[in-house]
Amino acid sequence: MARGKFITFEGCDGSGKSTQLRLLSEYLTKENVPHIFTREPGGGKISEAIREILLSGKNMEMTDECEALLYAAARVQHLHDRVEPALSEGKLVICDRYVDSSLAYQAYARGLGEEFVSKINAFALEEYSPDVTVFIDLTPEAAFLRKHGADENDRLEQAGMAFHKRVYEGYKAVAKAYPNRVVCVDGNQTPNEIFEEVLRVLKERGCL
Ligand code: TYD
Repeated sequence: MARGKFITFEGCDGSGKSTQLRLLSEYLTKENVPHIFTREPGGGKISEAIREILLSGKNMEMTDECEALLYAAARVQHLHDRVEPALSEGKLVICDRYVDSSLAYQAYARGLGEEFVSKINAFALEEYSPDVTVFIDLTPEAAFLRKHGADENDRLEQAGMAFHKRVYEGYKAVAKAYPNRVVCVDGNQTPNEIFEEVLRVLKERGCL
């Protein structure tokens, strides 16, 4: 049996990624395409336990290095538990966030650097490199405006915004570094327009 294709979705918080994943899920079900949906960090017992440690507000003293290693640890377990079995069964694997999130958030936004983060994620960048990565390209400013209407003078929002701007710049650098794998889709369009483009890209790449 032909191996399944591995597709990942990336984007800043509020980029509209979840809407696209929902639309894709509805489409694949309707078209009877064998697939699984999964997410990072998580997607399995051990990876979900690591997710809890990572996202818990109780772990504020976590170092950036520990954070990066835990994302990588959750990733390797998730590949073993969910991704590899589905790919070997010929299923399409759709993953909400993957190694590019580590590059954008840990390497660029946290400032750990690309070399360190690429090294601890070599398994994901080399052996388990996605067939296509869809990056929903929407700046954090645009995402923020769309969500709440920004309060430019709010100190906390601004502190958060500086971080999210670095995440966005990180994604742009990743897209430049892996031009064959990463497809940028303009997130300023309507959800249906974005979805049409997503479908077109996945068809062009032989995933559908
Ligand atoms: P989640 O609530 O799933 O966010 P979203 O719905 O935006 O995907 O939380 C995942 C968070 O973890 C998100 O803020 C991005 C972050 N993250 C990293 O920092 N590094 C990583 O490698 C991954 C996979 C996620």
